[in-house]
Amino acid sequence: MIVADVGAGTGFMAAGLAPLVDQIVVVDGSAAMLETAKKNLSSFKNVSYQVSNGHILPIENKSIDVAFANMYPHHCPDPLGAIQEMVRILKPGGRLVITDLDAHPYTWMKEEMADEWMGFDRSQIKDWFQAAGLSDIDVDCTGQSCCAETSNSDITNEQDRQAKISVFVATGAR
Ligand SMILES: C[S@@+](CC[C@H](N)C(=O)[O-])C[C@H]1O[C@@H](n2cnc3c(N)ncnc32)[C@H](O)[C@@H]1O
Repeated sequence: MIVADVGAGTGFMAAGLAPLVDQIVVVDGSAAMLETAKKNLSSFKNVSYQVSNGHILPIENKSIDVAFANMYPHHCPDPLGAIQEMVRILKPGGRLVITDLDAHPYTWMKEEMADEWMGFDRSQIKDWFQAAGLSDIDVDCTGQSCCAETSNSDITNEQDRQAKISVFVATGAR
């Protein structure tokens, strides 16, 4: 399989994927993130790196078996555009796999973590996958949560300070 990890950051997902696939293209908009990813993934010889905005992937049409994106769409001003661009690079029958935050109430995450979206309603993700032309769509729980704490000392209520947000997995086939 040839796969892509879009918004790959420091290579957390790619480290799990690289031993399982023939080739993995690791893409991130931040050159600094990719430098760290290169160090973290240096033991793998099947990884290539692209600094790029995820809305304009430097990857040919219909060339990828599976595109993965973990915790990336909620940073995108236009998640549908990001999804459509990942669909563009999928081979017919290829799959898109997104894991990201369910909708949550923690507004401080927008200020402190460059989040554009406070997670997503799963129905919204399903609609976007349909709009991007995917079929065999499934949106489900991963059973995992993302945890974070605000650094804003003005937020004093402990429940508001500590975010624990469930993570969904959405898949669809081109
Ligand atoms: C929360 S991190 C997730 C990193 C990685 N996927 C992981 O699971 O550890 C989000 C990543 O998306 C990248 N990112 C955000 N917007 C992007 C964009 N428009 N194009 C490409 N990368 C983007 C950021 O640079 C960051 O590395």
